[in-house]
Amino acid sequence: MRRILPVAFLGKFSFRGRVLIGAALPAYVLSVVLFAQSSDSGSPGYYQPKQPVPHSHALHVGEQGLDCRYCHTTVDTSDRPRASDAACLKCHQSASDDIPEFAAVRVAATGGPAVNWEKVNEVPAWITFNHARHVVRGVSCQACHGRVDRMEATYQAESLSMDWCMDCHRDPSPHLRRPEDVTRMDFKPPGGIRAYGHKVRNELAINPDNGCVYCHRPRNGATTLDSLLEPKK
Ligand code: HEC
Ligand code: HEC
Ligand code: HEC
Ligand code: HEC
Ligand code: HEC
Repeated sequence: MRRILPVAFLGKFSFRGRVLIGAALPAYVLSVVLFAQSSDSGSPGYYQPKQPVPHSHALHVGEQGLDCRYCHTTVDTSDRPRASDAACLKCHQSASDDIPEFAAVRVAATGGPAVNWEKVNEVPAWITFNHARHVVRGVSCQACHGRVDRMEATYQAESLSMDWCMDCHRDPSPHLRRPEDVTRMDFKPPGGIRAYGHKVRNELAINPDNGCVYCHRPRNGATTLDSLLEPKK
């Protein structure tokens, strides 16, 4: 089909028409490719808020080699694994530190209000999403947050739509590792992604569900399907 279609399509046009299309089509394809590349390296596809302190994962993870858990100390236990302000002070303790924007962190770490980091990823409150429960079952940070170690300013890497959740629940194997490896951004699964993930899935008996109530928790004690499908605005 793929090879026959364009020929049949071109057959409808005059010779000059065909030459024009022959020139325009590659140019169009090239522009699409270039656009895709520019949007890949430049501004990312989803939400990227401005943060109160210009914290960079590319610097702290990519260059300094810190593990996610060094700052996100509660990823294995919490639904809000926000970075610990105290962790910053292990390196940035000196008051003469020459980064003016860093003031908010120093204030937080000396008993002031916590740094008001803007939320990047968010699922609606009426969805059951248990963050830690994914991490301890071997779903990699990368599967849901992308190559964080390359992000200067943190952005939302995936759509977080219902289809996105369900696609992985249907076929989680390519995203699974042993839980001790979930934070490794450069992880190369021995024997290939799928075969390796399949093995982990069997070992840990991982079996996510896609029934509506798995993610849509009934509100106010209601149990009808309608109550699940009409989220509060
Ligand atoms: C040096 C400390 C530090 C390390 C190490 C670190 N982070 Fe962060 N992370 C932060 C801070 C601070 C924020 C909030 C500001 C921002 O978005 O950059 C954050 C925000 C995030 C967010 C966005 C949270 C939201 O609101 O949705 C994600 C996702 C994230 N980090 C993932 C990771 C992953 C994955 C790793 C390991 C590969 C990692 N972080 C390592 C400090 C750190
Ligand atoms: C393990 C040590 C370490 C920890 C922990 C750490 N940093 Fe850093 N940070 C560094 C180094 C090294 C630099 C680069 C300093 C330089 O270029 O002079 C840096 C630079 C920065 C900068 C300046 C970036 C720039 O572009 O100039 C900011 C802002 C910053 N860190 C914020 C944080 C925050 C917020 C935390 C806690 C969530 C944190 N750091 C935790 C080591 C650390
Ligand atoms: C299955 C997908 C998934 C995995 C795996 C995952 N995350 Fe998340 N993460 C999310 C979603 C979705 C949110 C937004 C949650 C919400 O709104 O309640 C989030 C929120 C966060 C936040 C913001 C917490 C806050 O303060 O509100 C941080 C930080 C974070 N993740 C870091 C990590 C790190 C580090 C890892 C790996 C150890 C990881 N995540 C693994 C999907 C995931
Ligand atoms: C990249 C893969 C992946 C993505 C994306 C993902 N999940 Fe999961 N989810 C899993 C795996 C693996 C489990 C663990 C199943 C098990 O323990 O057998 C799980 C478990 C769950 C559970 C059950 C938790 C518990 O307490 O047992 C819920 C609820 C859930 N996911 C909701 C969501 C929602 C909502 C989203 C989208 C916002 C989402 N998941 C996105 C892979 C994923
Ligand atoms: C794996 C988790 C998961 C499962 C299972 C799931 N949903 Fe969802 N659903 C979501 C998430 C996450 C959203 C919100 C997406 C967003 O914010 O764009 C959503 C949104 C919706 C919405 C749109 C609500 C609105 O007004 O925005 C409807 C309708 C819906 N789900 C129906 C269903 C039905 C019916 C089922 C069972 C067949 C189901 N869902 C199963 C995760 C799930």
